[in-house]
Amino acid sequence: MEETEAVAYTITGGSGQYSYSKNSNFQRKAADAAKELINKSIAEKLDADILSSSNTFRLADLGCAAGPNTFVAVQNIIDALEQKFQNQEKISHPPEFQVFFNDHASNDFNHLFTTLPQERRYFAVGVPGSFHGRIFPRASLHFVHSSYAANVFSRLPKEVMDRKSPAWNKGRIHYSNSTDEVVKAYETQYAKDMESFLKTRAEEIVHGGLLALIVPGRPNGTPHSEAFVNRTCEVLGSCLVDVANKGMINNELVDSFNVGTYFASPQEMEAVVKRQGCFSIEIIESVPLERARPKEISSTLRAGMGGTIKEHFGEEILDELFDLFYKKLEENSSFIYDSGNAISLFVLLKRVATE
Ligand SMILES: C[S@@+](CC[C@H](N)C(=O)[O-])C[C@H]1O[C@@H](n2cnc3c(N)ncnc32)[C@H](O)[C@@H]1O
Repeated sequence: MEETEAVAYTITGGSGQYSYSKNSNFQRKAADAAKELINKSIAEKLDADILSSSNTFRLADLGCAAGPNTFVAVQNIIDALEQKFQNQEKISHPPEFQVFFNDHASNDFNHLFTTLPQERRYFAVGVPGSFHGRIFPRASLHFVHSSYAANVFSRLPKEVMDRKSPAWNKGRIHYSNSTDEVVKAYETQYAKDMESFLKTRAEEIVHGGLLALIVPGRPNGTPHSEAFVNRTCEVLGSCLVDVANKGMINNELVDSFNVGTYFASPQEMEAVVKRQGCFSIEIIESVPLERARPKEISSTLRAGMGGTIKEHFGEEILDELFDLFYKKLEENSSFIYDSGNAISLFVLLKRVATE
């Protein structure tokens, strides 16, 4: 069987009712919650040599979307870097900052560029392309940040799409409520993608440079089926089945639709970093997520996944699907929230010399 197509969940651009820019407060709260850890990362873990090694400090945000959260995250990093610089007596000339905003080429970069903060103290560059491949020159970056993006696969595991495979994911769109074979296929894809993501970043980041990842995750020891993020995917899947049962779409379309994201535990993340070997783990923390209301979850998912769902199932189902999703979230709020297992994983890695 051929490889599956690359996954690209392009968010809804612009500034309309369903746009990411108007419906990404959920991810914004995750970035806000990580602010103290970003400050700590730069104050305590960034070697002063890295700040003084070049006239230009190069920083990248991978999976930046169309704003505005990326501007907040970047500003937090720049503020912490400037603070660190002021505390370093040895450095006479502050570096200038260059910020690379990366996302898929299909991202609304026009919206991103036209809404760049006027008062920014950095030079902005757009970098189109998948971060699962090389997108920067060798050893060119000092700090890489990525929030709520590295949990997205490069491609779907092909077994889950294969009717003849025991891992065929019939009637479901994700792994947490599925068979052991499907769970295994997702776990394997996560390990493969994350290892290759780290290997690729290791080529692009200077020795001593930092990689800060914020991803939705699940606490150690929590089964996949009990994680908040997995449960919301499960409810969305059941709504697609309902829409199919109403005759609005064919059941086979549901069978062939799978969401290529994985929500790792700190232990899984640690294991893959150690196996890959090019980074040391400087900080790894679970950051509790503030409880989001059903309306917010529904509009966040529509802004993030609406385009992909439209492409697969057609535009006609979008209103019906997301109304149903919102109602089911309300009706099943104890299922969604009671486990209390809603976290972001904050991981700070340092590029170490390996040879
Ligand atoms: C949920 S949004 C998060 C955006 C932003 N970082 C934030 O916190 O608001 C995920 C973003 O990651 C991007 N993304 C996912 N996989 C990607 C890949 N392989 N390469 C580049 N961008 C990717 C998506 O296109 C989307 O814009």
